[in-house]
Amino acid sequence: MENEVRTLELVFPEHANPNGAAFGGFVLGLMDKVGGYAAVRRAKKPIVTVRVGEVVFEVPIRVGDMLEIIARVVRVGRTSLTVEVEVFKERLDTPRILATRGNLTYVALGPDGKPTPVDG
Ligand SMILES: CC(C)(COP(=O)(O)OP(=O)(O)OC[C@H]1O[C@@H](n2cnc3c(N)ncnc32)[C@H](O)[C@@H]1OP(=O)(O)O)[C@@H](O)C(=O)NCCC(=O)NCCS
Repeated sequence: MENEVRTLELVFPEHANPNGAAFGGFVLGLMDKVGGYAAVRRAKKPIVTVRVGEVVFEVPIRVGDMLEIIARVVRVGRTSLTVEVEVFKERLDTPRILATRGNLTYVALGPDGKPTPVDG
């Protein structure tokens, strides 16, 4: 699907505090990266993040968790796109659950580095 991107990532110790809980910034970084993939796939041009919208960390993410990050373009404006991002976590012994969700907005850039229409 052109509007959706899915990526798997594993949480390593360097992504977490000494208690084994993942840093929020690590999870945000994954959301921005995969959200950007969805935006660039839809716009077919370079993009830049302009806004990180509400992000909710529903349950802790821990070292050893496998994360599936799903990003969907949910709004296309003139030069901007909004992407909804969900982060599911799973382990060999635990069912997959939604851990974090949020939305990010990206702007398509022309060759001059200025905002350019997404379509056109
Ligand atoms: C993104 C950027 C190019 C936009 O420039 P700008 O002069 O504000 O552009 P415009 O006013 O023409 O707005 C462009 C689009 O962005 C949207 N936008 C601008 N500021 C926004 C904000 N705070 N939240 C959501 N959307 C925003 C506008 O609504 C417009 O969307 P539309 O064309 O779909 O209606 C500029 O702000 C920038 O370079 N920011 C830094 C981005 C960056 O470095 N990101 C990485 C983080 S380190």
